[in-house]
Amino acid sequence: MAKVLVIGSGGREHAIAAKFAQSPQVEEVFVAPGNPGMCDVATVVNIAQNHTEALIAFVQAENIDLIFVGPEIPLCEGIVDEMEKAGCVVFGPTKKAAMLEGSKVFSKHLMKKYHIPTAAYESFSDYEQAKEYLSKQQCPIVLKADGLAAGKGVIIAQTMEEAQQALADMMCNALFDKAGSSVVIEEYLEGEEFSLLAFVNEELVIPMEIAQDHKRAFDNDEGLNTGGMGAYTPVNHLPKQAVEDALHLIMKPMAKAMVAEGCPFKGVLYGGCMWTKNGVKTIEFNVRFGDPETEVLLLSLQDDLYQVCMDVLAKKEVQLHWSEKPILGVVLANKGYPQSYQKGAIIKGLDKVNAHVFHMGTSLKEGEVIATGGRVLFVACEGDTLKEAQDKVYEEIKKIDCDALFYRHDIGNKGIR
Ligand code: AMP
Ligand code: GLY
Repeated sequence: MAKVLVIGSGGREHAIAAKFAQSPQVEEVFVAPGNPGMCDVATVVNIAQNHTEALIAFVQAENIDLIFVGPEIPLCEGIVDEMEKAGCVVFGPTKKAAMLEGSKVFSKHLMKKYHIPTAAYESFSDYEQAKEYLSKQQCPIVLKADGLAAGKGVIIAQTMEEAQQALADMMCNALFDKAGSSVVIEEYLEGEEFSLLAFVNEELVIPMEIAQDHKRAFDNDEGLNTGGMGAYTPVNHLPKQAVEDALHLIMKPMAKAMVAEGCPFKGVLYGGCMWTKNGVKTIEFNVRFGDPETEVLLLSLQDDLYQVCMDVLAKKEVQLHWSEKPILGVVLANKGYPQSYQKGAIIKGLDKVNAHVFHMGTSLKEGEVIATGGRVLFVACEGDTLKEAQDKVYEEIKKIDCDALFYRHDIGNKGIR
């Protein structure tokens, strides 16, 4: 029997830990640093996700068979390289391969070099040059901070004034700290977004079912970009061609490109795709499971995640199986997110909820669950139809008692209309 360590502390890691815990081959799942909501499926270990040495010592002391790294920050800092050097078995990309998410400039350059469809762009590290280029573009226009910004480093400017202000905020006023010292300025694309994730090892690409996230904070896609406010799978109203093209024009070519560049990819590769009137385009790559897509995808996955990881590490082809039933989930976030918000409100009523509840950002205080993250909880249900799943989720959410939280009311509508 195997032992697994999941690294991270959000809803994604709660879902990953829950899925590993279901495997008949897995004896125990640990999560570091985890959160109190995960105690239902795993042993929570109090080691920070950037404390690599302590994590390695724990892995060695417990004889952990597989480590699964959830978030992008430790991946981009090289946790996989360090752990592999110490002889651990890790499912996740090396620091070099994680640049695909860690640097938008790197990722856009590779897409251009290998003819992977994406928005036309230029990148800049000099403010005056960027300003000059921007002044000659049409609006709307998209500005992206080069580095990691928790899904918030993208500005879609409707007017030139807004665009110039955003550029100055990124490059001169360090709105996203160092992440914005280089920027990508790119063409605005119109179309429908979807997420295609795949288990990848070098040129082996095993695609998952597609999911759809909802990036904006408020109903009708209004408000700022967030890490994601809700998700569902499958996305049946998109044509099969969109998924086929995303696999053959985006995911497989990028896996191949990474091998050719000397930084082969191993782990979960996330393609943020858009189906436009000119075909499929890449919005971004992430180098890990998406949050909250993972929560719905892993509820739908019928296979043993431990076996899938082991097979992919051994470069074996795997056939994945997905639930026939749609799964939909909604994020409850602290009011103010993705900007500043108050922490610490008490959450009541969780024991009454008849749904899958994943904890994204909670803590325990004097025996009560409190809201500490920007995104706090993810509530998901399956249904015979997407509408039924949606109705169930919104019914169950009403049982959660916490005035400090807000959520979108239209998750899944695109798939229902
Ligand atoms: P990213 O962090 O690159 O995924 O961008 C966050 C969100 O901004 C995406 O999910 C899209 O909704 C939007 N976005 C990013 N790039 C573009 C683009 N070129 N055209 C239109 N929308 C975009
Ligand atoms: N849900 C999008 C992301 O994880 O980046």
